[in-house]
Amino acid sequence: MTTLIASDRITLHQGEALGVLGTLPDSSIDTILTDPPYSSGGMTLSARQADPAQKYQQSGAKRRYPAMLGDNRDQRSFTLWASLWLAECWRIARDGARLMVFSDWRQLPAMTDAVQAAGWMWRGILTWHKPSARPVLGDFKRDAEFIITGSKGKPLTHTRRCLPGVYRHNVNSNRKVHLTEKPVPLLTDLLEVTQPECSVLDPFAGSGSTGVACLQTGRSFIGIELSPEYAAIAAQRLRETIVT
Ligand SMILES: C[S@@+](CC[C@H](N)C(=O)[O-])C[C@H]1O[C@@H](n2cnc3c(N)ncnc32)[C@H](O)[C@@H]1O
Repeated sequence: MTTLIASDRITLHQGEALGVLGTLPDSSIDTILTDPPYSSGGMTLSARQADPAQKYQQSGAKRRYPAMLGDNRDQRSFTLWASLWLAECWRIARDGARLMVFSDWRQLPAMTDAVQAAGWMWRGILTWHKPSARPVLGDFKRDAEFIITGSKGKPLTHTRRCLPGVYRHNVNSNRKVHLTEKPVPLLTDLLEVTQPECSVLDPFAGSGSTGVACLQTGRSFIGIELSPEYAAIAAQRLRETIVT
């Protein structure tokens, strides 16, 4: 493990999630908001095990991104692996903590199984509607991803607002620096369910989008990312967000 940022509000580790999670103390984090590799993107095992750059980019897209790691598990091993890191997150979370985990339609059943196997109370599914998703001739458009929500026991509530179940945000293809980057405004919307100054853990930080949303909203952040290239990109984005 290499620690790239260690400040009061931001910690960023480059390393393997399970190993790094094992170093974090019990009951020390208020929220888990994360976007793990989906191991998805194909109807067959060989299609799922293809390079993520092929699976998750529209055909003809020319942008090159650093390799996304850990995206080639088959269904059973994906569920088992997700249960392991989700159980570590459960140990690290405080009672009443919120869990929010991204998934796509193929992996939704596997991920909701893993969330519950790890001890989390499954509370529901939010929809991220992406109007800019590619149309499919003669078929339905797959223009949604999902956020599985859960809690460690009875959830603590921190807002008097009735929050939506569907969020609509476009992917900013021209500006994104990660192959499967999530829009910061979406992450900011999701954080509204949490306490304003809470601590947020993202064990699959990618380019650091969750951390940017935390910094912009006064929350503290602990991120973990396996890829040295993406960890460096996340560190740079986070430092730039601190300065601006
Ligand atoms: C879906 S991406 C996260 C993208 C992020 N939400 C963003 O907006 O940039 C998942 C990330 O998890 C990383 N990853 C895969 N396996 C990992 C592991 N075992 N430990 C830590 N990070 C891992 C990948 O390199 C990838 O960057």
